[in-house]
Amino acid sequence: MRPLPRCHSGPAPAKTGKQKWIAPRSRTRGSGKCRHYFPINASCCGTWRRGHFGHPSFEGYSVLAATSGASTIVVDLDAQGRLDLERMAQAVTDKTRLVAICSPNNPTGTTVSRIEFERFHTKVPSDVLILLDEAYAEFVTDPEAFYGLRDVSVLRHPNVVVLRTFSKAYGLAGLRIGYAVGHPRVLDAARATAIPLSLTGLAEVAALASLEAEMELRERIANLIQNRDGLQARLRNTGIAVPEAQGNFVWLPVGEAATGLGEMFDQAGLVVRVFPSMGVRITVGDVNSVAVVADVVAAYQLASRLVQ
Ligand SMILES: Cc1ncc(COP(=O)(O)O)c(C=O)c1O
Repeated sequence: MRPLPRCHSGPAPAKTGKQKWIAPRSRTRGSGKCRHYFPINASCCGTWRRGHFGHPSFEGYSVLAATSGASTIVVDLDAQGRLDLERMAQAVTDKTRLVAICSPNNPTGTTVSRIEFERFHTKVPSDVLILLDEAYAEFVTDPEAFYGLRDVSVLRHPNVVVLRTFSKAYGLAGLRIGYAVGHPRVLDAARATAIPLSLTGLAEVAALASLEAEMELRERIANLIQNRDGLQARLRNTGIAVPEAQGNFVWLPVGEAATGLGEMFDQAGLVVRVFPSMGVRITVGDVNSVAVVADVVAAYQLASRLVQ
């Protein structure tokens, strides 16, 4: 096994958990997933080139595309809060260099199915890079969901790079560590434009220790999934069309009511993420928080009916 250049990683780990089978040049480690997004973007998306994303999706995409001089095309999600891969494929032009697929999508929590991904992949030209952002993959329970580490083959999908992070399920956001898996040629280009010395030894030690503690991780995730599904069911009972939540958060597509509902959460001492005119993203908490969140939504619905 050839060690990665030291300027882009800490000490080479003796083992890399489940990713053991991935050849060294087909993966690259770095300080958080954004650290991978940036050089991949920079190496393929110069001025007059375009990156494509869903909307709403992870805000980092447009910021990072802008830093490499690329313009962006955003394609609205469908009515169920899912990425509209059909329309995203249609929006690709000869200027398109990169399309980011966020699955589960932040903030709506929906996933891309295996059939949808494969269909999309056949429609997108082979010189367009597809970044599959799987920041929340550990929380996915839908068996139909596309799962990059299992479903991407470097031979069949040489233009697909899977991005994974230790920031979410592993809780290491403050230490900044993640990795990319893809074709060696793409990752070599990413390494060449990456910020040197961005990964600390401490982060790498923490990531390896986390991989060792798989049972604890599974328990934590199972608990979270139970609370997420409970929260989703309670919120659906209020009549809101909550999309299928597959991350560690639930999306309330309340449109213009988002700001008012956000204020109500604020008054109740709960921190949520408000997307004005679109919705509210609620990170799943402990089991007691499920009823508290549902009560705030019910109180908001009652108050807004009373003032109509
Ligand atoms: C979809 C998505 N991708 C990437 C990131 C950033 O990951 P990292 O902390 O590994 O840079 C986030 C963080 O919120 C995210 O939601």
